[in-house]
Amino acid sequence: MPADSSPLTPDDPATRMRILFLTHSFNSLAQRLFCELRARGHDVSIEFDISDSVAEEAVALLRPDLIVAPYLRRAIPESIWRHRTCLIVHPGIVGDRGPSSLDWAIQQGEPEWGVTVLQANAEMDAGDIWAAETFAMRRAKKSSIYRNEVTEAACRAVLAAVERFSSGTFSPTPLARTAARGQWRAPMRQHDRRIDWLRDETATIIAKVNAADGFPGVADELFGIGCRLFDVHAEAVRPAGPPGAVVARRDGALLRLTRDGALWIGHARREDREDAFKLPAAAAFAEQAAALPDSPADLMRDDGLWSELRYREAGQVGYLAFEFYNGAMSTDQCRRLREAYAYAIARPTRVIVLEGGLDFWSNGIHLNMIEAAASPADESWANINAIDDFARDVIETDTHLTVAALCGNAGAGGAFLALAADQVWARAGVILNPHYKNMGNLYGSEYWTYLLPRRVGADRARRIMANRLPLPAPQALREELIDAAIDVPPPAFAAQVAERARALAESADFASQLDAKRARRARDEAIKPLAAYREEELSSMRRNFYGFDPSYHVARYHFVIKSPSSWTPRHLALHRELGWRVPECP
Ligand code: COA
Repeated sequence: MPADSSPLTPDDPATRMRILFLTHSFNSLAQRLFCELRARGHDVSIEFDISDSVAEEAVALLRPDLIVAPYLRRAIPESIWRHRTCLIVHPGIVGDRGPSSLDWAIQQGEPEWGVTVLQANAEMDAGDIWAAETFAMRRAKKSSIYRNEVTEAACRAVLAAVERFSSGTFSPTPLARTAARGQWRAPMRQHDRRIDWLRDETATIIAKVNAADGFPGVADELFGIGCRLFDVHAEAVRPAGPPGAVVARRDGALLRLTRDGALWIGHARREDREDAFKLPAAAAFAEQAAALPDSPADLMRDDGLWSELRYREAGQVGYLAFEFYNGAMSTDQCRRLREAYAYAIARPTRVIVLEGGLDFWSNGIHLNMIEAAASPADESWANINAIDDFARDVIETDTHLTVAALCGNAGAGGAFLALAADQVWARAGVILNPHYKNMGNLYGSEYWTYLLPRRVGADRARRIMANRLPLPAPQALREELIDAAIDVPPPAFAAQVAERARALAESADFASQLDAKRARRARDEAIKPLAAYREEELSSMRRNFYGFDPSYHVARYHFVIKSPSSWTPRHLALHRELGWRVPECP
């Protein structure tokens, strides 16, 4: 086993449990916990929280030793928690109760927050405590805190709780016996989030929108039209104008003046259209944005302020960050990324690190922008070609060694895009979803038919593509899909990457590594040109976009408008497999 994969706990039948996840959806936290528990030898099956009777049926079918609720939006029915231990993951400190835990913590500027694993009972979030973890708060979006600090703390707490449960000797602590500083907090309403553009300072507005990101957003108005705001970032220079005025656009964002400064509004959802969904703000208000002056960002800006694309150098290493909201990469974003990459490889460096974003490295083509287009089929085609162009540039780079450094997760086309780099290094907590199967019968492109077998061989490539389950970085390393799974928390990842990248750039055999890369590419091109892989992939994609099978368009629509689940997919609900045999009761 390669040195830096995380060790697995031995699969000990004495401690192996059947665990049922009751969850609103298989979100990133649920995926991570699923992977961690399976890596420790537990059988984990999943049921989405669709109705009490469906949950009861799942419990009857699986007869779980333990139920874990990583992400629930409503209470577990008494018919279940009365008879089985149910552990709820609550994103709050001990004693904190209510559904807007993180929202209040962010908006009120709590310096430290936490995750508590408590047992379900009749009172919401008031059950006995099995484990709790704390973390220092960062000034960031709720979705980012959730995907980083909360996820890491929840993993530690759930693993401790499961171990304690399986020991059979641990008694959880009743809430009343803790010195908890947490308290019951009412759901946060839009009036608690309201922005007063005349009075609020920039920092206050950012805290309000951060506390509402990525759901529900802050109800406000742009150009006199009701909308929800998401994804805001401070700007350094305040152009002249009254507070509240929208004065410029950059990429997909709009610059709005505050009392004491200015901020970029990255995303918005209009409320004047019933079927509207979240879009880059300048796309949601395309007509109004077109009249504003464009204010492009400097790729090399080093003032710590926001821009989607950022390039910096340290010694012989160039770092290209692409912090695209939700990891979604639209046609325009792919084109801008390509230009930035062209700039990076023209520099006198040796190694290029493709950093992606903190929360996601990439999730492939931008499904919301596609859904909003006049012709979703045409926009799908443009977007896949734009992402393919960038992938080809990376594959064909013969002046540098390239590294995809994944601090955040990557899914679908984004996971394959990473393979275009010479090396793929991921944080050990990263989850990959290297498959297109959640999006109808989408065949996929990004040169995956070249990149995947090249790394793992044809058989394993077939298995990976057929597997719809999330793949944790340590397992991806064992499968040779990636080259390193670096076991550090998110804030320490960049430093680890920098150390490795510097070593790569300074390695004595750098020139021969580059020669070997060029020779391999030339060999591969002679066997089958890249253009042929692309043409084959795109001929299948053409059918997905323009052909008779509507499954991609239907799946995309439901994904974008967030249709509630009506069933749990079969590959997750193992207890619903016809071949599943419930073990005999002891
Ligand atoms: N385009 C647009 N939005 C996307 C996206 C994409 N390709 N991938 C993710 N998102 C958005 C989600 O809608 C969600 O939006 P929100 O801000 O309103 O919450 C947000 O990103 C987070 O996604 P979520 O599904 O909640 O995250 P996750 O970590 O639980 O799951 C994935 C990650 C990648 C498994 C899942 O988002 C997914 O299947 N995405 C689609 C990938 C895809 O099919 N891409 C196109 C083919 S290349």
